Amino acid sequence: MTQKRILSGMQPTNNLHVGNYLGALKNWVKLQDDKTAECLYCVVDLHAITANYDPTNLAQNTREITAGYIAAGVDPARSTIFLQSAVPQHPYLMWLLATMTQMGKLNRMTQFKDKAGKDKEKAGLGLYSYPVLMAADILLYHATHVPVGDDQVQHIELARDIVATFNHRYNGEHLTSPEAVLMPDGARIMSLRDGTNKMSKSAQSDMTRINLTDDADLIAKKFKKAKTDTLGGIPDTIKSLEDRPEVKNLLTIYAALNDQKIEEIVTQYAGTEMSAFKTALTDMAVAKLAPMTSEVRRLLDNPSDIDAVLHKGADKARSIAAPTLDKVMDVMGFLK
Ligand code: TYM
Repeated sequence: MTQKRILSGMQPTNNLHVGNYLGALKNWVKLQDDKTAECLYCVVDLHAITANYDPTNLAQNTREITAGYIAAGVDPARSTIFLQSAVPQHPYLMWLLATMTQMGKLNRMTQFKDKAGKDKEKAGLGLYSYPVLMAADILLYHATHVPVGDDQVQHIELARDIVATFNHRYNGEHLTSPEAVLMPDGARIMSLRDGTNKMSKSAQSDMTRINLTDDADLIAKKFKKAKTDTLGGIPDTIKSLEDRPEVKNLLTIYAALNDQKIEEIVTQYAGTEMSAFKTALTDMAVAKLAPMTSEVRRLLDNPSDIDAVLHKGADKARSIAAPTLDKVMDVMGFLK
């Protein structure tokens, strides 16, 4: 496989936040400009049901995430946007791969440990085997590159392990080993309330994250209340940020949203008081996010257009996924 194939996905749980945007989505948009690459972007609804969810919201959340992709700049004319549950080969391949995934490896997945929390015994098999479904998502398309935030790297390593096991066991280069692609800045955006925890859709308090659908007042309020420290305003060197995770996070958000390097922001704002920096950050963030927010609203006014994009994308996705699954089943020796 010489062609570059990009694949990534997001779960339709809650709204997209700036972590999703800066860690992944912004990269998805950029990768579309690579003429040698084919891009496939999936809405992973089968993953979204591994945690408690409300069935009456799933369809609407799915449309909202799809609208978020498009509003951020994923172009349905250049990229295939599709729904995971519309391509039955995903859970099918997952089962085949599950037979060759070691529990020892799944036990090491930090995201499972985080999400299962203290009571692992009560966690569902779906949550535990979540990375195997993610491997199927990637391997069905022979994806070579997977643009994600830093929290997904371990899952991509597992997908690579599964490829190695499969190709070894069935003696050939049947599946393609994917590589994670990270944003240089923004691969790990932290919570606004705790600089040691990542910003997350599932965190209970909405004040921990900036959603792509927040209005200007809410963005201002969230940045104003964002935790900082008692060590003063913006320092004049990056090194001084080492023990200041919250301040570093705000500077990272500024730099990544405004397409600048964090060094430039430090130089520009050195000596500025925190409250003044937060105001500047709010103004810039509102200017960047407002067009996306209004585009999401506009798209959601025409849900049938969103559904049409997903249906067309699913046809294309199935046309790639079906032959891969057929080949895998042949290699595994199933009677046809
Ligand atoms: P999900 O839905 O949790 O997150 C979607 C993407 O956003 C990135 N991200 C972040 N990046 C930087 N800082 C943060 N605080 C932050 N929070 C989230 C994630 O790394 C991700 O890239 N398992 C995946 C979805 C998935 C997938 C796939 C991805 C399913 N199948 C196949 C790639 C390929 C997930 O739960 O992402």
